[in-house]
Amino acid sequence: MKSILDKSLILKGKKVILRVDLNVPMQNGSITEISRITKILPTIKLLIEKEAKIIILSHIGRPKGKVVNGMSLEPISKKLADLLNMKVLFNKDKINEKTLAEINKISNGSVMMMENIRFYEKEEQNDDAFSKKISSLGDIYVNDAFSCSHRAHSSIEGITKYAPSYCGLQFIEEINALKKITSQITKPITCIIGGSKISTKIKIISNLIKIFDNIIIVGGMGNALLKNTGINIGKSVCDDGYKSLVGKILEQSKVHNCSIYSPLDVVVSKELNGDGTIKEVNEVNNDEMILDIGPKTIRLIEKIINSSNTVLWNGPAGYFENPNFSNGTKKILEIISNKKSKDKIYSVAGGGETVAVISKFNKLNSFNFVSTAGGAFLEYLEGKELPGIKALN
Ligand code: 3PG
Ligand code: MG
Repeated sequence: MKSILDKSLILKGKKVILRVDLNVPMQNGSITEISRITKILPTIKLLIEKEAKIIILSHIGRPKGKVVNGMSLEPISKKLADLLNMKVLFNKDKINEKTLAEINKISNGSVMMMENIRFYEKEEQNDDAFSKKISSLGDIYVNDAFSCSHRAHSSIEGITKYAPSYCGLQFIEEINALKKITSQITKPITCIIGGSKISTKIKIISNLIKIFDNIIIVGGMGNALLKNTGINIGKSVCDDGYKSLVGKILEQSKVHNCSIYSPLDVVVSKELNGDGTIKEVNEVNNDEMILDIGPKTIRLIEKIINSSNTVLWNGPAGYFENPNFSNGTKKILEIISNKKSKDKIYSVAGGGETVAVISKFNKLNSFNFVSTAGGAFLEYLEGKELPGIKALN
């Protein structure tokens, strides 16, 4: 994969089509979380320093090929201008001869952002003529949107057929982090995986079992393992097909010598908005729900993390939205954070909800790497070949 750091790449005066992921969360027209913007600044700054002309392509939301007012990238171009402390031109026009003429006028080191690329229905169709058309916006193409690389869309995949293509700095960081937890591992390696349903993460677990030493399953997913041993989980969430899912996990874990852990104790309540009571796993009543892990489980997780050299975290340990059930999730973050500050460990976290949780509890610095990717991160962990990566290889 060629990157913008390639020595042979001359950027001065070149029009660089830079695909980034500016799909940031917004509320009433303001951006509520900016890490996807801050993470692409190094690439933009490097391109500016090398005197390239930068044409930014991105999407926000899912406008499904229609122009949707609330999904304009214009407010984001303003935020980017603030962060770069320079003018960022914004091009509202449809891509046509006029746009090309505007682009030809911009000077070296300038930045122009195009309107939401998903306002074109051909984008998601990966339409060949459209891919060719957007390639005409510049001389070379740079993908710094790892978090969109699970999408075979024109601005991610199709365009690479029509322009010399490179990856950006953020893309390299994401890939390097993922390699350190999938192929270039310092063992022992442990994964703490949570979330509500095991069915949504079965492919990840099946893939990780082959390479991980320990997998600790918490959250609603842990309920499936408990129920499978005959424990009453009351009215807790649980996958319908839990028997075959758990059966598959346990069978594969034996083949690949991976230890699977489930909660030893839990925090229960009759209501989501109720108070929590710590219980042994075999003490749950019919009218109760398991909403967090208990102290014994937290100590077990601490012991396993402390004897690991690499850790991956994805998915909360409980219903953290209610502070009465956020202790398990917070403690896992603390344990990983403490281990990072006192020993050598390599820790990675990723997946949409996971990043939101880490950010909520102000623990972004607890990990060596926090991915900005949701779906792309998870699909990579499933062992899938992502179209955006394949296109650059
Ligand atoms: C994301 O937020 O996951 C990426 O921006 C991709 O967006 P999508 O899930 O709408 O394709
Ligand atoms: Mg997504």
